[in-house]
Amino acid sequence: MSRPWWHTAVIYQIYPRSFQDTNGDGIGDLPGITSRLDHLVDLGVDALWISPFYPSPMADFGYDVADYTDVDPMFGTLDDFDDLLAAAHDRSLRVIIDWVPNHSSDQHPWFRESRSSRHDPKRDWYVWADPAPDGGPPNNWQSVFGGPAWEWDEATGQYYLHSFLREQPDLNWRNPEVEQTMFDTVRFWMDRGVDGLRIDVAHFIMKDPAMRDNPPADVEPTEFKSLGEYDRQDHIHDKGHPDVHEVFRRLRVLLDGYDGERFAVGEIHVFDWAEWVRYYGEADELHMPFNFSLLFAPWDAAEIRSRVDAMEAVLPSWAWPNHVLGNHDEVRLIDRYGGPERARAAAILLLTLRGTPTIYYGEEIGMRQADIPLDRQQDPWGLQVPGQGRDGCRTPMQWGDPFTDSEPWLPMMDEPTVAGQRTDPDSLLSFYRRLLTLRRTLPDLQTGDYRSIDGPDGVYLFRRGESVVVAINFTDEDRRIDLDGEVRFSTDPELEAVSAEGVVLGPDAGVIVVT
Ligand code: GLC
Ligand code: CA
Repeated sequence: MSRPWWHTAVIYQIYPRSFQDTNGDGIGDLPGITSRLDHLVDLGVDALWISPFYPSPMADFGYDVADYTDVDPMFGTLDDFDDLLAAAHDRSLRVIIDWVPNHSSDQHPWFRESRSSRHDPKRDWYVWADPAPDGGPPNNWQSVFGGPAWEWDEATGQYYLHSFLREQPDLNWRNPEVEQTMFDTVRFWMDRGVDGLRIDVAHFIMKDPAMRDNPPADVEPTEFKSLGEYDRQDHIHDKGHPDVHEVFRRLRVLLDGYDGERFAVGEIHVFDWAEWVRYYGEADELHMPFNFSLLFAPWDAAEIRSRVDAMEAVLPSWAWPNHVLGNHDEVRLIDRYGGPERARAAAILLLTLRGTPTIYYGEEIGMRQADIPLDRQQDPWGLQVPGQGRDGCRTPMQWGDPFTDSEPWLPMMDEPTVAGQRTDPDSLLSFYRRLLTLRRTLPDLQTGDYRSIDGPDGVYLFRRGESVVVAINFTDEDRRIDLDGEVRFSTDPELEAVSAEGVVLGPDAGVIVVT
């Protein structure tokens, strides 16, 4: 059976501001990414996803798009993009770009026109509403980034909706012209040869047409997220309206109209599996909704197993899973999971579960969450809601040779570095490289079925296909596992190449056993 490329691919996410600067402004750019592609080849990944590089006032660092079919001068030019795409394709790397359909920048010409008058032909391209009888916002919807989701426009006497910053007005996807125009922006990049889209907050684009209030929610704060007004609502009306599926069915037709190889993954923060799986449609919507369930999992074998099993159970046989352990919105994985000694076990988890993994830049060297002093903080979310800032996971890539020859846009850490790890066989980078090589040499790791197995308390054990068993000890004690086979890979090199009958796994240790 021939499989689409994205089934066996490992995706590598690049935050373009932080990968490599080439013109001395302290901000990474597209030529910088091109100059570092060999790192991706050396690592052994198959595709890169680049966060937005469109013209933007940078209120949300590029997730506020002022032109969907160009490159911000800060990042380079369209020619630079074409060079990057060609250089990636020369190296057999696929390129996925970030498409931001839910909202544009308030500086986008469409919004400027929409805002100019109630009678402007583009008025209905955004979500405008009259005030409530008391003059306040039309309903109780909140912005993800804090405060009401409605901004009053004095000149035209209506509110506009912004699910994120007030500088990010929501487009009105119920207007067919919006869909047509936004689909044209997809064609623009597909025609240039882009391999796929990562769709920003994909489930947000359709809201309740009656714009009813959200009911209150029953929630508890977690270690990493305090609760704001936003979290206290049950978001049944301000996003995820079932009409969203029709839009994605039409988008799929557009993508399939190319060569059958163009791919779309949606950023979908939906944690009800039955609702989440609907974004695959009948194999006629998104190729995958991102699966974020492990991002927020405690370091606990039973908990992680139950999340993976639940996801696997809900997938139709043809649907392909995926796993995410980090991205530009979350605390760096080793800090979230409890320390650098867990980085190797986390890598085994990410790269041996069934499905497409996404690595966030720097994970391969164990980049830590940075503590950014208040006066250097940049993320508007953190500036609006203290504690929510995402700068700490967005610091410049630590190459060991200069990221920039001026002041980097965010402070950067000295250690660890790519240069310091490249030739060290015991480094995390070498560990990732070997693990990715093994993934390519053992077909069961790429495409074998998944089945979890009961094991000792605190050990997550699962089988991939007929030949591979993975065991990870999530406890801080030794655990013994009995298996027939040979340890082909381990967090502990001493265990490799021994027969696995009676292997003792130390704390946070993992093994890949070939039976
Ligand atoms: C997504 C992005 C995030 C951005 C938000 C608004 O969640 O990942 O970085 O701030 O959408 O576009
Ligand atoms: Ca630059």
